[in-house]
Amino acid sequence: MAGCSVLSVAAKRLEGKVALITGGASGIGEYTAALFNKHGAKVMIADVQDDLGQSVCNNMGPSVASYIHCNVTDEEHVKNAVDSTIRQYGRLDILFNNAGTVDIFKTNILDYTKSDFEQILKVNLVGPFLGTKHAARVMIPSSQGSIITTASVASVIGGSGTHAYTTSKHGVVGLARNSALELGKYGIRVNCVSPYAVATPLTRRVFDLDEDKIAKLYSNLKGMSCKREDIANAALFLASDDSRFISGHNLIVDGGFTITNSGLSINDFFK
Ligand SMILES: NC(=O)c1ccc[n+]([C@@H]2O[C@H](COP(=O)([O-])OP(=O)(O)OC[C@H]3O[C@@H](n4cnc5c(N)ncnc54)[C@H](O)[C@@H]3O)[C@@H](O)[C@H]2O)c1
Repeated sequence: MAGCSVLSVAAKRLEGKVALITGGASGIGEYTAALFNKHGAKVMIADVQDDLGQSVCNNMGPSVASYIHCNVTDEEHVKNAVDSTIRQYGRLDILFNNAGTVDIFKTNILDYTKSDFEQILKVNLVGPFLGTKHAARVMIPSSQGSIITTASVASVIGGSGTHAYTTSKHGVVGLARNSALELGKYGIRVNCVSPYAVATPLTRRVFDLDEDKIAKLYSNLKGMSCKREDIANAALFLASDDSRFISGHNLIVDGGFTITNSGLSINDFFK
């Protein structure tokens, strides 16, 4: 992990905690797994890219990181990932529901098939539902836990993703709010983190967007673009006791992108 240095015990914000991270083999999940581990957490990575996931764990060390094959759309896989985490490390403090996928833009809804739509919802919305359900199953008896789902700027605006992607990301915010209300009485917090565009294998593969192209996208913060570490740091905050009174929140990490309105700019009044 770039910029990873050894932290003192006092500086470690997840010391003694155990995190399950879906989609931890690549991109935002991979970076977050390394950051959580640096802050003292033991990490279980659940993904469908077995070789990649295993090598991410090897980099952290076999005593502090494990890999499990888990397709988040399959309830048995998700149940097994949660139970394996408990077997391996004795507890589950943090679930990072991060696995996700995107589909190609189709300009016309008439070309959009039911199966295109359902496929994205299965991974991006049903996956986090199954994760939240099975994490809650083991967190309720221990009366604590932090569940975080990676949403997107597409969770609060239209037009930054396809119909299915935007729907799925709005959906996970609803799921987080509802489950935060239900699970609060057990001391379990449920939140979302919503990234702007970040260069990851996903953005490269689907949109041909690398670090340089992402840096040229619109940014409200002059000269800055969103990085994996910005999302990982937000997830670390939501995972740690620093956010002990925050639940049902959607932490948008976009430098102010979603509060702008291209149709009306206050700057126009000051020309
Ligand atoms: N990169 C961005 O610009 C961006 C912006 C907003 C939101 N997000 C969200 O961030 C999350 C991570 O995306 P990323 O950009 O790091 O992409 P990525 O492709 O690098 O990582 C996603 C990981 O999820 C895994 N995955 C996909 N489907 C799965 C399934 N069915 N079961 C288990 N694992 C599965 C993949 O194998 C991969 O390792 C996603 O939820 C995505 O929607 C990304």
